[in-house]
Amino acid sequence: MNERYEALFASNRDILEGARVLDLASHDGRYSFAALKTGAAHVTGVEVRQSLIDRAQEAFAFYGQDPATYRFVCGDMFEVLAREKFDVDVVLCFGFLYHTYRHTELMYRLHNLAPRHLIVDTMVTRETRRTLKVIRERDVEDIRSAAQDAWAVRQVLVLRPSVPALRMLLRSYGFEIESMYDWKGRLNGRPPVPGVDGYAKGTRVSLRCRSREPAITPGWERVATLPTAVGPRPHKGGRKPSPTPPPAQSAGEWRERVNKMLAKATGYELRRASTKR
Ligand SMILES: C[S@@+](CC[C@H](N)C(=O)[O-])C[C@H]1O[C@@H](n2cnc3c(N)ncnc32)[C@H](O)[C@@H]1O
Repeated sequence: MNERYEALFASNRDILEGARVLDLASHDGRYSFAALKTGAAHVTGVEVRQSLIDRAQEAFAFYGQDPATYRFVCGDMFEVLAREKFDVDVVLCFGFLYHTYRHTELMYRLHNLAPRHLIVDTMVTRETRRTLKVIRERDVEDIRSAAQDAWAVRQVLVLRPSVPALRMLLRSYGFEIESMYDWKGRLNGRPPVPGVDGYAKGTRVSLRCRSREPAITPGWERVATLPTAVGPRPHKGGRKPSPTPPPAQSAGEWRERVNKMLAKATGYELRRASTKR
């Protein structure tokens, strides 16, 4: 725990001091507490198991933590994030991205929350390609496991990402990996430290990400302006341009083609920008 504190909190003090923090899958509140002790102004923990929230509340009271500085929400984070808007600077997503198959849904919600930073700590596969490995979580009684959702039949299937898949996932929702904690450097030459061997082997990583772009304001869609003209590309050697250039496309046709590609890749479509005030 102390090793993880150093990697996940002490080394991120600059972004945690004074921050409003959302701790996803907050478990017994250990990392929510750590965030406050690192200088966060407020933390909201979201956890699906009430018994763990009770433990967190007890521990916070035991340590005399000011109740105005924290809040725990019990519920499936997908439902909680869909119904509640959190005004936060930093999101912690520790120990969860290998307990779900709903990565895009989660990233979509986080994108809309628009935190300045997102800190991710997760198990990964060592694949060098962008892959998600299907894993069956059988023991639903294990308090560290995935919550059963409406589509689970006893066991829950989850997808464990590789680092390249994780990078693509984060990028696709506007998060850029700023740094990956140097666990190997930290653990190198030391006797094995219990609980952190995954980091040493490269099957677990800690990433600090920053938001690359402002989120879409709820209720608004992205609106892109249309280019004024679409002409043939300049010829740069190689294949010669066709002697009869294709007929110029109208803005409507152009928009339709681009929309098809955009909708496939992002789910958004272009709209003609309004000039009305
Ligand atoms: C491996 S633990 C990680 C706990 C803590 N964040 C950490 O890094 O030590 C996974 C936690 O996710 C919680 N959890 C699983 N599915 C969840 C969901 N859909 N919504 C909220 N919490 C969930 C579990 O109850 C458990 O506390």
